[in-house]
Amino acid sequence: MDFFDLRKQPHLLGKVVVAVLLIVVCVFILKQSPAFTGTSLFSRREIGVTHVLVTGGAGYIGSHATLRLLKDSCRVTVVDNLSRGNIGAIKVLQKLFPEPGRLQFIFADLGDAKAVDCIFAQNTFDAVMHFAAVAYVGESTIEPLRYYHNITSNTLVILESMAKHGVKTLIYSSTCATYGEPEKMPITEETPQSPINPYGKAKKMAEDIIIDFAKTTDLAVMILRYFNVIGSDPEGRLGEAPRPELREQGRISGACFDAARGIIPGLKVKGTDYSTRDGTCIRDYIDVSDLVDAHVKALGKAKPKSIGIYNVGTGKGRSVKEFVEACKKATGVEIKVDYLGRRPGDYAEVYSDPSKIKRELNWTAKYTDLEKSLRIAWTWQKSHRNGYSTASPISS
Ligand SMILES: NC(=O)c1ccc[n+]([C@@H]2O[C@H](COP(=O)([O-])OP(=O)(O)OC[C@H]3O[C@@H](n4cnc5c(N)ncnc54)[C@H](O)[C@@H]3O)[C@@H](O)[C@H]2O)c1
Repeated sequence: MDFFDLRKQPHLLGKVVVAVLLIVVCVFILKQSPAFTGTSLFSRREIGVTHVLVTGGAGYIGSHATLRLLKDSCRVTVVDNLSRGNIGAIKVLQKLFPEPGRLQFIFADLGDAKAVDCIFAQNTFDAVMHFAAVAYVGESTIEPLRYYHNITSNTLVILESMAKHGVKTLIYSSTCATYGEPEKMPITEETPQSPINPYGKAKKMAEDIIIDFAKTTDLAVMILRYFNVIGSDPEGRLGEAPRPELREQGRISGACFDAARGIIPGLKVKGTDYSTRDGTCIRDYIDVSDLVDAHVKALGKAKPKSIGIYNVGTGKGRSVKEFVEACKKATGVEIKVDYLGRRPGDYAEVYSDPSKIKRELNWTAKYTDLEKSLRIAWTWQKSHRNGYSTASPISS
């Protein structure tokens, strides 16, 4: 009977040894892999890596925050129901950070408490940045219940899951709309909050719930009250792309760009007889890069058993006329402007006093050149005529 003697075939012996070694190495690597152990990298704590749950990360501000967190070597889980956000933004981020354990996207509605609990059970978060919300003042007056549910009730769901799963840090997206119509400018954090629409009221209620809960726990809370957010990623990777059906609800920068692109015939400026320097309303425009930086600083300074509340604005008011002029220069388009009578409910001047955030978080707005912020945003808009769905350049 034939059999071979390995000792007489040294080459074969070497090959067998190498093969065995390879098998051992493969088994070792497989054992380390999440697929083998049945756990994902997102469920493990890694020393030196902060894992942030970003709710609403497919939206305008949340996607920019996710980009910044990833650049800062954080691990990010985005939860979004895509009701207003864009999966295209997530795809851009996934392309930029394809390494395992950097970014995961979970499609879920924060109103679904079981789903949220499951997300917290399956992942190990160090902090939550809660951006997800419906966020249009006008819409909130027409659909108030939607706003109380989406903003106030969903924040409760997040807090309950944080408590249950021991997540100790929350950075909350709030708004200057919680102040209502203050008589004195600039707005400080001490300015009484007296919101005048369901959006502002829902955010104020969410703030109150967070504060009450934080007082009974060792939670680290930072509440950031943003003023009017504009701009986009200076490197042109992300932008603001609201749903076409929301255009009407939209914000001034979106309307300017739509007018510059000819999607709408022109701009309607409502109110030219306010007691301001040129008769139009004055607002405080904060660039999204600065805003995201404020979140990172807030995350860095968040302390257990402590609640930080900060205005995030430039401290400088710009009139609607000034904004429109900056937009004309940024787009190079002579946007048609119709000056109309006042819109009920608009107040003359709103701008922040950002000295507290400067003093305590060492944050100041850097992107304060309105025209430059708008030029950056316009560059993205020009190459994304249909938002994230197609990237088709437009002339002008
Ligand atoms: N844009 C501003 O000027 C401004 C000013 C002040 C405060 N804020 C606040 O900043 C946050 C982000 O605003 P934005 O301008 O990026 O809005 P956005 O609409 O672009 O993003 C919000 C995201 O939240 C998601 N979302 C909404 N409801 C959800 C739910 N139930 N479950 C899961 N995901 C949900 C949407 O799909 C969207 O991706 C909001 O909380 C808003 O109130 C914005």
